[in-house]
Parts: sequence; structure tokens; C-alpha cells
Amino acid sequence: MRIITILFALVALPVVAASPEAVQGKNGMVTSRSALASEVGVGILKSGGNAIDAAVATGFALAVTYPSAGNIGGGGFAVIRLENGEVLILDHRETAPGSASRDMYLDADGDVIRGLSTRTHKASGVPGTVDGLLLLLQHHGTKSRKEVMAPAILLAKDGFPLTRNLAAQFARVLQAMAPYPASKAKFSKNGTPYAAGDVWKQPDLAATLEEISKKGRDGFYKGRVAKLIVAEMQRGNGDISLADLADYRSVWREPIKGTYRGYDIWGMSPPSSGGVLIVQMLNMLEPYDVKALGWGSAQLIHLMVEAQRRAYADRAEHLGDSDFYNVPVATLTSKAYARKRFGDFDPDRASDSEAIGAGSWPEESAETTHFSVMDGKGNVVALTTTLNSGYGSKIVAAGSGILLNNEMNDFSIKKNVPNQFGLIGRVANAIEPGKRMLSSMSPTIVTKDGVPFLVTGSPGGSTIITTALQVIVNVIDHEMTLEDAVSLPRFHHQWKPDSISYGKHGISPDSLKILQQMGHRNLRAARWGRGFGDANSILYRDGVIYGMKDPRNEGAAIGY
Ligand code: DON
Repeated sequence: MRIITILFALVALPVVAASPEAVQGKNGMVTSRSALASEVGVGILKSGGNAIDAAVATGFALAVTYPSAGNIGGGGFAVIRLENGEVLILDHRETAPGSASRDMYLDADGDVIRGLSTRTHKASGVPGTVDGLLLLLQHHGTKSRKEVMAPAILLAKDGFPLTRNLAAQFARVLQAMAPYPASKAKFSKNGTPYAAGDVWKQPDLAATLEEISKKGRDGFYKGRVAKLIVAEMQRGNGDISLADLADYRSVWREPIKGTYRGYDIWGMSPPSSGGVLIVQMLNMLEPYDVKALGWGSAQLIHLMVEAQRRAYADRAEHLGDSDFYNVPVATLTSKAYARKRFGDFDPDRASDSEAIGAGSWPEESAETTHFSVMDGKGNVVALTTTLNSGYGSKIVAAGSGILLNNEMNDFSIKKNVPNQFGLIGRVANAIEPGKRMLSSMSPTIVTKDGVPFLVTGSPGGSTIITTALQVIVNVIDHEMTLEDAVSLPRFHHQWKPDSISYGKHGISPDSLKILQQMGHRNLRAARWGRGFGDANSILYRDGVIYGMKDPRNEGAAIGY
């Protein structure tokens, strides 16, 4: 069995992928946070499947091999480009349960109850991943459910040796899982942490996946698995009901469409803020000679930070689920609006976000996951999926092997109170039954004259959008290779808190000084590794598909 042979080789992989080179292929490419999942996807391509088949197989495999973010208990977004040139987006974001209400996370005094929207049964939205992946397959795949799910089932049933990174993650999260016996049982040996190289099996998850493979969406949203999820909810005062599960539906939406220097940008529309903000920021940058300013220069960082500041301020006010709130998408993504909005840009002076004190940044990195797939016919998938925090609510629905999300924290649980990513929101993103919480996930496809050019996206909470923006600008403006565009340090500003965070070594000492003189404050180097983001991307140029695994984390780009 090929999967099993590569499994054992993988234990020896260093935490950061050994090769910074982009992988090249002519016939297909999958790049994801898990080498095993990439291998699954490429196996499907090689057996004649298209990029959609491969993406669905990779998505299910990630739920097994990268459990902190790969999931069937969470949700995500897919942007797909079909070989006929059509671009479609599928929203399989979680929804608020039917019994949810605006102030559900506030106490009698109207204060936020700490942890209720992140670390409890009440933190979960109704999962969308299974419906989303199956719908993608049904509408645009060529293979059977059984075929694309078989590798994930095998990986769950037979297990796979844990990499050092995964074993360390499990050890770290054990304490948070201690109150939940099913979580403890799944992620440790009776409370003793797993070691690298231990073969990790997930029999409950294998049974759940088998049920989905046999029955389709009903194998998750109805019957045994649905009852296990609801029983878990009832153990912890959670809100998801059988009716919520049965009613869940993914939604095909209109993609956000922008242009930038002759390229077409296809992004995710609300309930993600990603597509709108990326197009808005590109529109603000377009009149400037970004290339001449130069990568890493204080002037360019200033220009881009000011675009970020304005776009994120708009996010807080205007973005939410467009099925519930009238999001002014056309205005926000228009060139005219960008010109007006950026009219007060001062090339020499930072503008002022009203300070709200030291904001919080994600404590744990890369807890969402993005993967990119392309086949030889020009079908392309950019898919970002998440449980929100790493390992979501940390709660496994007993008997199902399913780790539940804590996506409810992405709602504005109280007006102007920052969520775990320091993002604030208002009425546009207030909780309502059935509504989808605002996201930053930004799977993006860039095409040129109708031909696929760049596929990108990332985890990283609020930093997802600025990560995708920088990969796009690096390739289009700075004419970088894909390896440089993905690997180089990034910076991030999100209006509030008024602070620039940047990847280690990302801003030179003299640029830092200039930025401070311009009035930028709170410049902070990222605390971990090479900084934020995990932008597993694909570039198609001159008939060659380049795949790049973000070197900040393990995983693999595999092409052929
Ligand atoms: O949808 C969102 O924007 C968040 N739930 C994403 C969370 C995330 O990226 C966590 N990773 N650091």
C-alpha cells in the first residue's frame, strides 16, 4: 500500500520542510499542510481524477492527518476554476444553531463570559465541511464518494506514524482536553502523550467516515453520527440540535471579482471578508508603483499598512453574512471607492487608528489550513478549512471521533469587543439563528486572460487576508518566484489594535526607524518561527505547474 510506505518515511521529516524549492509538475499538483494528505490528493489525480476529486480527497484526508484544522466538524470555503474557465465558490461555513441569540455569550451585566464562545460545547456552529466536500464532488467531480474517501478511511483505521510536530501539538493540547474524556482518549494514550513515530489510529473517526462514504450527507447530518453529535451537545449544554444538522446546507455564491494590473482576482464573498478586503486593498495599491518602491522598503510597508488599516476598519463596520445583512460588496470592491477611501493617504505620515490598548493576537499559529490543487486540464481548487482555534473547542463528540469547532467566536459576540484575533465587529456580524459568522478565510485564484495563474490562501485568523495579499503582490508586482513569494516574511496591520506585526527579520532596522518616524506604533516581530501564515500556493507559468509548501510548517507540495 503506497500510503503506508510513505508514512514511515515521513516521521523523519524535520518540522520545517527541507526544501525551499517549488515543486514542478505538468500534470497535477497538490500542496497542503500534511504530506500524507497531499499524497492522497495526487494519488486521486494520477488515477484519472480531476482537481475537484483530488481536493475532496485531500480535504477528508486532512481531517485525519491534520486534526487541529483539517476537519469534518468545522467548515470552510472553496474557490474553484473549471477547465471551461468558469469560476465558482462554495460556502460551507458553519451556521449559528437555531437557538442562538445575539447576547448568548454575555452575563447578566452584559459582559462577555470568558471562554464560553471558545472552549465549551456552546462554542460550536453547525458543521458544514461534509456537506461542502460532498457537494463539490457531486457537481464537479468525476469519481465516486467511495473512491475519494477510501484513503482517509484507511488512514484513520490503520493509523499513521505521528510526526514530531503532530506529537508535540497533541501533548500541548492535552491539558485543555482534560475535561473531555473522548478528546483525551483520542489524542493521548490514556492521558500519556503520544511520541513521534507512534502509530495513531482513529477507529471512531474511521467508522464515521465510512458512514458518510456509504450514505452521503445523511451519514453525518442524520442518523447515528448526528445523534452522537447531539448527545455530546446535551452533555455540555451545547446548542446544536438534530434539526440544525438536518437543515444545514452549503451555498454556491457569486465570487468576488476584482482586477489588478491586468490580472483577474477571484475571491471568497461574504460570509468571508477575504475576497472583499483583498480586492479593496489591491484597488488602493494599483495607482502606486509598488515595484519601484521595492519589497521591504519602509515606503511600501507604509503604503500597504495604510491600505490594510482602512480595509479592516471597513470590515468591522460593513462585513457579515450577506444573507442576513446588506453588505455593500459592489461599493467596497469598486476602484472609485478605493480612490476615495485612500484619498487621505499621506505618503509621509501614519494615520491614526483610535487606540484600544494592546490587542490580542492568535496565541496558536496555523490553526486553519489552506490547500491548493491543480490538474493538467486547468481545473483548479483553492480551499481553506477550519475549526477556528487549533483543535476547535477541544471537544470530541464521544463515539464519533469528530472534533467540534469553536467558530461561534468569529461572530461579534459583543459590539466593539475584540474576538480572539483582536477583530471587532458590530451589527453586521451580530449573532442570529442560522446566520454564518464572518470569516477572514481567503482562498483565492488569480487568472490572466482566462488562464489560471496563481492559487493561494492561508490560515492565520485576521492575518489570512494580508498574507494572501502579499503573496499576490509579491508575484505580480515584485515578479518573485513562487518560492520567494511564499517564503519571505510578511507584515500585518488590522486597524485595531494600531500595531504592525511582522515575521522575524521581516523589517530591517532602518525601515523600522523610518516607519516609527512616520508615526507607526507598536511594531512587533512575530513570536514564533518565521511568522504567520501557511500559504500553500500554486503558480502556473509557461506550461509548468509550480507548487510551494509554505516553509513555515510541515506538509508537502507534490506534483508530477
Ligand atoms: O474564519 C476565520 O476567519 C477564522 N475562524 C480562522 C481561524 C484561523 O485562521 C486560526 N488560525 N490561526
